Amino acid sequence: MIKNWKERFSENAVNYEGYPIGKTLKLLAGNPDIISLAGGLPSPDVFQKSEVRIATEKSLAGSSIDKVMQYSSIPGEKSLFDAVIQYLKRDKIKVSEENVLITTSGQHGLDLAGRLFLNPGDTVMLDRPTFAGAIVAFDLNRPKYIGVDIEPDGSNVKGFRKKLEAIKKKGGKMPKFIYVVPDFQNPTGISMSMKKREELLDLSYDYDVPIIEDSPYKDLRYYGKMMPSIFSLDQKRKGTNVIGLYTFSKIFCPGMRVGFNIGPAEVIKKMCNIKEGNVLNTPKYNQDICASYLTEMDLDKHFDDCRNYYREKLNLFLKTMEKYFPPESGVTWTKPEGGLFLWVTVPEKIDTEKLFYEALKYKVAFVPGWQFYGEKPSKNHMRLNFSFSSKDQLVEAVKRLAKCIKDQK
Ligand SMILES: Cc1ncc(COP(=O)(O)O)c(C=O)c1O
Repeated sequence: MIKNWKERFSENAVNYEGYPIGKTLKLLAGNPDIISLAGGLPSPDVFQKSEVRIATEKSLAGSSIDKVMQYSSIPGEKSLFDAVIQYLKRDKIKVSEENVLITTSGQHGLDLAGRLFLNPGDTVMLDRPTFAGAIVAFDLNRPKYIGVDIEPDGSNVKGFRKKLEAIKKKGGKMPKFIYVVPDFQNPTGISMSMKKREELLDLSYDYDVPIIEDSPYKDLRYYGKMMPSIFSLDQKRKGTNVIGLYTFSKIFCPGMRVGFNIGPAEVIKKMCNIKEGNVLNTPKYNQDICASYLTEMDLDKHFDDCRNYYREKLNLFLKTMEKYFPPESGVTWTKPEGGLFLWVTVPEKIDTEKLFYEALKYKVAFVPGWQFYGEKPSKNHMRLNFSFSSKDQLVEAVKRLAKCIKDQK
């Protein structure tokens, strides 16, 4: 009889703890009195439910259902490839099928990138803070992280350069890639300026370090002008240094679990080999619905609806934050132009991990900021989501949070 399973676990898995946010969210389950600003959920108010019902009928009609119920193409469905290639043209990206891999969501896209590039001990360069799900995906391969504090206009590219230069001078090993979320970054809501997008590319060329650009929120811009992706800027310069990760989760719905990775054919082919070994094919039904979303569900109208809907919530949220957190509270926060989150900084003496448990007593929840750091976590931040809760709940949540923080001695 096996008594000790742990000693049989692989070196990669034995100390792997998975997703800390998942554990945070578990604490909230079954407690409906708590207003949660913790999850990254889009609002069902903007889900295209009747359109999905129509697309479903079409996907399952006649003998099409046989294909839906069967194994299907591993790289992805032709109809979704075509739709994705068209969609990317909005951002002046030109790719063909060999440059695209359909994934089973953004998290799968991150997992493929981690598995493809990282050996234990390799390094990844990233923002401080950055998307916790990326860290958790990469962590399975046991890399180390080189982080630089993000700035109000995006990654601190000069800081990245300094670190790369220092590694080069010492004859050290370059990071395997630089991971960024340039549009309304999760968790801060910060967007990278145009100047920095170009500078990041310069850096990537100067030091031969690829960029992984993760872009789930790009279309959810409520203010300001749409910015080109780093992938498209790289293409414009005839480069091949960027790998783009996309998901339908935030612009359509997360339940479909569909996304796509784009990049040089050689990279995509290898990612597909890894997909063969991990999920095989992404469900055809889900791909059919996503193809229909891109081609038949009036994308522009949907984006407009989402923008109008989330913009209102963002405005209300920011206004309520101002009301309940006057300057003397010592609390500050980002003012995003899009996306689903803002990032709050509380006075340094407050550890937001401890505050999280206090806040539960006040029936409000957030994600403690430490979860968003690859190394040396900062402890006095939190991520707040404004997309999911109702307007009344958003106001009430901020009120509760303000009282909770005020009551901390
Ligand atoms: C930056 C970023 N990348 C990837 C993902 C993962 O998306 P998915 O839900 O499609 O797995 C998220 C989800 O929150 C995200 O914020």
